[in-house]
Amino acid sequence: MLPMIDVRLKKDGGVRLQHIFKQGDEEKPIMLLLHGTGGTEKDLIPLAEEIDSTASVLSVRGNVLEQGMPRFFRRLAEGVFDEEDLLFRTKELNQFIDQMAEKHEFNRRNVVAIGYSNGANIASSLLFHYQDALKGAILLHPMVPRRGVDLPNLQDVPIFIGAGKNDPLCPAQETKELAAMFTKANANVHVHWEDDGHQLTRKEMGAAKDWYLKNFA
Ligand code: MLT
Repeated sequence: MLPMIDVRLKKDGGVRLQHIFKQGDEEKPIMLLLHGTGGTEKDLIPLAEEIDSTASVLSVRGNVLEQGMPRFFRRLAEGVFDEEDLLFRTKELNQFIDQMAEKHEFNRRNVVAIGYSNGANIASSLLFHYQDALKGAILLHPMVPRRGVDLPNLQDVPIFIGAGKNDPLCPAQETKELAAMFTKANANVHVHWEDDGHQLTRKEMGAAKDWYLKNFA
């Protein structure tokens, strides 16, 4: 068991993460956008706009730098995660969403994550470690963030996984393993396969949109 680490706090008691918040329709879920390695909080805004331009958006920039590239947690090598940092950053992000919900007066239980690659991995980690962190998630090319842990009960939480059969970073077997872990935790998992690699394709984004509208519109 790794030691739990306290989240570093701002002087006023909060977590500081660079982000964009856009107020939208209060009835709709808040889209939490989490970019891939080397990205920024701007990357997934067009995708969110395309999925539902009337929804509120909270888009966050990862505060770990790997050779100048923003990420959401440290890795020791490609595909090998620093578990201690993963836990620390997951807690930090969860706390940041709590703070944003208070500040912008949105329903903390109404947050749906859309994450790509490293962003999908921290979204998975939120689901692995905090029962009510997310109402649902679109995970685009995620990996298994951590093994050997019991997931909370994710009863009926809708999860879309977008995967590439030829993704060198997220092998198909790992996608299936992650889907099985979420299913075992009672989540409602949908896996969408493309023949491509790690890149996001138009078809995959279209499938994610259709799934989102079916589950949350
Ligand atoms: C990435 O480059 O973002 C990896 O595929 C995923 C990760 O390191 O979290």
